[in-house]
Amino acid sequence: MLAATANSTRAAARTRKARAAAGDGTPEQIHLTWGENPATDVVVSWASPGAATRPRVRIGQRVIPAEPRQYTDGINGETVWTYHARVGGLRPGATYVYVVTADNDSNAADPFTATFRTAPRGRAAFRFTSFGDLATPNAAWVLSYGQSAYAVDAVESFQPLFHLLNGDLCYADLNPTVQPEVWRDFGSNNQTSAASRPWMPCLGNHEVEFDNGPQGFSSYLTRYTLPDNHVPGFSGLWYSFRIGSALFVSLDADDVVYQDAGAFVAGPAALTPVTGTGNPAIEPGTSFYIRGYSGGAQTAWLERTLAAGRSDPSIDWIIVQMHQCVCSSSATGNGSDLGIRQQWLPLLDRYHVDLVLNGHDHGYERSFPVRGADVDAGHEAATGAMVNTLRPHPVTTTDSGVFDTSQGTVHLTLGCGGTDTPLDEYGMDTADGSPLPGGSRPPRTPPRQAKVFTRANRPVLTSTPGVYTRAAADAVEDATWSARRDTSTGYGIAVFDVRPDPEDFGGQTSITVTQYHAVGADPVNPATGAKGAPTPDYTEFETFTLVSPRRA
Ligand SMILES: [Fe+2]
Repeated sequence: MLAATANSTRAAARTRKARAAAGDGTPEQIHLTWGENPATDVVVSWASPGAATRPRVRIGQRVIPAEPRQYTDGINGETVWTYHARVGGLRPGATYVYVVTADNDSNAADPFTATFRTAPRGRAAFRFTSFGDLATPNAAWVLSYGQSAYAVDAVESFQPLFHLLNGDLCYADLNPTVQPEVWRDFGSNNQTSAASRPWMPCLGNHEVEFDNGPQGFSSYLTRYTLPDNHVPGFSGLWYSFRIGSALFVSLDADDVVYQDAGAFVAGPAALTPVTGTGNPAIEPGTSFYIRGYSGGAQTAWLERTLAAGRSDPSIDWIIVQMHQCVCSSSATGNGSDLGIRQQWLPLLDRYHVDLVLNGHDHGYERSFPVRGADVDAGHEAATGAMVNTLRPHPVTTTDSGVFDTSQGTVHLTLGCGGTDTPLDEYGMDTADGSPLPGGSRPPRTPPRQAKVFTRANRPVLTSTPGVYTRAAADAVEDATWSARRDTSTGYGIAVFDVRPDPEDFGGQTSITVTQYHAVGADPVNPATGAKGAPTPDYTEFETFTLVSPRRA
């Protein structure tokens, strides 16, 4: 079975090389992103096996030439050809049919055709969806799993205006000798939805790839055209866009987290790029750790962006997307990171960010609204010594189902896309019988506990010669901020209905959030031991509403 898979993979690679050599410009992996103004601008992006001649998008009588962008993978030497057509001057809230083609498109007689809808203008209602950590449906790749295809179908089933994909897109870095193939399977899988509505991504730790650019982001940056952040040298790494009365801010937390979780060679073998790349072997124990890469430029941009958003009376909601977590209590996953809490939490507080959407831990967790920090709430995992984890302070611990986000920010962990590794086991402080603040739980129930990275876990040698590892989080805290965790499955999708009209919900603007989950999709359910399999059935797990006073 494995040999058959390897043979078919090699055969596909041979066919691929032949198509590249023959200059096959057939569009594939077609996906949309918002342009500078989602009400009028959309970008159509795609790839082709070889260089395309006159790549273009057609909308009605308009023909929009596409900009070519390419890179050569630094490990296996494959050149990836991508194309990006910026379509502007559209009408708000309108549906358009578009065609993607090139002179050397083998489907030129019947080229790829799909439709999209632009964003509404003004205080209009709209729906978006979100998850992270999608992977691909090709189980030949590390961390890929069949649920990834059902997850894309789930997005389509809710017909959102757009989808937020919260980092760790396809884990090509964990399949380092075949990275372009993994990205191709990811792009082909997403096309089912991303060709019909924008999918807005952010960078995660697994977008960091060896020998692919200064931060390892060439695979990502070549494939995506994202709104301009106007920060020289960092175009596409973080950005914002506005839809109706909501400002969306997409960040790259790789810049601030302590956790070292990017590309890594554990050993004992080195990772040796093919000769043609000119890149040297990457020795065991090497990790690509990029904390601090922007030199503060991203944080300065974030402050400017949040300040402008909060001073704009036509913006009610500020929603932040980033991969790593401020508030995750997954026990089998990564946990929370002090780096984000130190550098960005004060800004989220000062500018009253309403909602933060994450990935990274493969499950679903919701925080109470949090503002400010509890000091001296953490302990070093190894020694029990006190350590300041800047634990986010819940402004309420009553799980009422309606939360005023002008009082505190709600964090959602949504790494529940489609990997083969659900992380839906959560921490409990079994050494401590104290109740949660508010006394809402029986006194003998141990409080929830979260792991927290408070320092870098750089590679260390194991007891096996030549083999390295990176340690888990170094600290723990009682997770007083944790409101709800889905222990039944690590797979799901969050659906957000933004309703700006105060008459729709008690005189306030509101966002109703519903988490749908795919029960039974866990390969092995950690709570019951039951074996599961990918499933198309997404059912409701919980629904709650965020409210905020209208600004204007
Ligand atoms: Fe991650």
